[in-house]
Amino acid sequence: MKAYKLRDNIWWVGGIDWDLRNFHGYLTQRGSTYNAYLIIDEKITLIDNVKYYLYEEMLSRISSVIDPSKIDILIQNHVEMDHSSGLPMLMKLLPNVPIYTNANGIKGLKAHFGPEGWDFHEIKTGDSINIGKRDLTFMTTPMVHWPDNQFTYCPHEKILFSNDAFGQHIASSERMANELPLNMVLEEAKKYYANIVLPYSKQVQKVLEAAAPLEIEMIAPSHGLIWTDGIGQIIDAYKHWAYYDADPQKALVIYDTMWKSTQKMAFAIAQAFENKGVRAKMLNLQTNHISDIMTEVMDAKYVCVGSPTLNSSILPTVAAFLYYLKGLSPKNRIGLAFGSYGWGGQSIPILQQLLGDKDQCGFEMLDPIKTQYIPDRATLDKITQDLEQQIT
Ligand SMILES: [Fe+2]
Ligand SMILES: [Fe+2]
Repeated sequence: MKAYKLRDNIWWVGGIDWDLRNFHGYLTQRGSTYNAYLIIDEKITLIDNVKYYLYEEMLSRISSVIDPSKIDILIQNHVEMDHSSGLPMLMKLLPNVPIYTNANGIKGLKAHFGPEGWDFHEIKTGDSINIGKRDLTFMTTPMVHWPDNQFTYCPHEKILFSNDAFGQHIASSERMANELPLNMVLEEAKKYYANIVLPYSKQVQKVLEAAAPLEIEMIAPSHGLIWTDGIGQIIDAYKHWAYYDADPQKALVIYDTMWKSTQKMAFAIAQAFENKGVRAKMLNLQTNHISDIMTEVMDAKYVCVGSPTLNSSILPTVAAFLYYLKGLSPKNRIGLAFGSYGWGGQSIPILQQLLGDKDQCGFEMLDPIKTQYIPDRATLDKITQDLEQQIT
């Protein structure tokens, strides 16, 4: 397999994971890539690595440009194993090559691989190394996505090697975002942010500020497509996402149902939003994956969640979604709990607590809605009318 030329003497040499469909619970319908970058200068430099089972692919791509044993410098922007588990194999070939990473990177790589004798060089934000014609400058970006993440910037070509930031899980034979429909790439970047980066939005705010003065003509992330024409759009999108912007004209009605009573309520709730000019999206947990629902949460102001009462609790599908939602910590949303019940009706206070409590999702809450057994037409109409009063 061949390297892909990005600029004179700068090559993409990563691996394409066509079959990846599950990234610890995140449904990756389009697969992914692990991007590594080779810079041919007086000192030949490899930035990042790949997942262990794509190591041979990376090596063959490097070999299409140079003999891999000629690599002089390794830069490791992140410890997580999608970008590092090929490293121990490469180190067998290059046992004495220096590895540039930050203190958390050194700590993490040691903890993962227990390397004997690897030649670590600690970098800090603002440090540069010279590799010949080029300098490479570092910026640590802790918690975007692990404590060890860092950016590497090449001022000569104005390329930002951003690792997990600005990535998307897309396997494709195209390398550049502008070779595919930009909306699709941005949508996958949104899904990636929702399911991976969202809990660290405060840190993303800081990183966006710190990186703002950089002149950037290319963003080369560690997953998916490389940004050139779409740089403005992806940075703008990150600004919206990092500050939890939500569209007041978008509502989600997320639910599961036993005998379709909660589903009937869900449609009555959606009708209330539609009557107020708010687009409502129906998301049945039987047919929508929680990682896709998170993509929708990224820009929806209203997050309504419904479950009937089962065994004095909520349905397991709804519990799984709410637990996932809480972990990813979107802010600045308005919640609504609803559901039907037979006798106990415990699902509604449980939903109210999971969505509204400060130590849970912490959403501002509308009044909860519950109905016993099967809601008739009049009950459904009343649900719609009462809810309309609450939507501003
Ligand atoms: Fe990561
Ligand atoms: Fe990653």
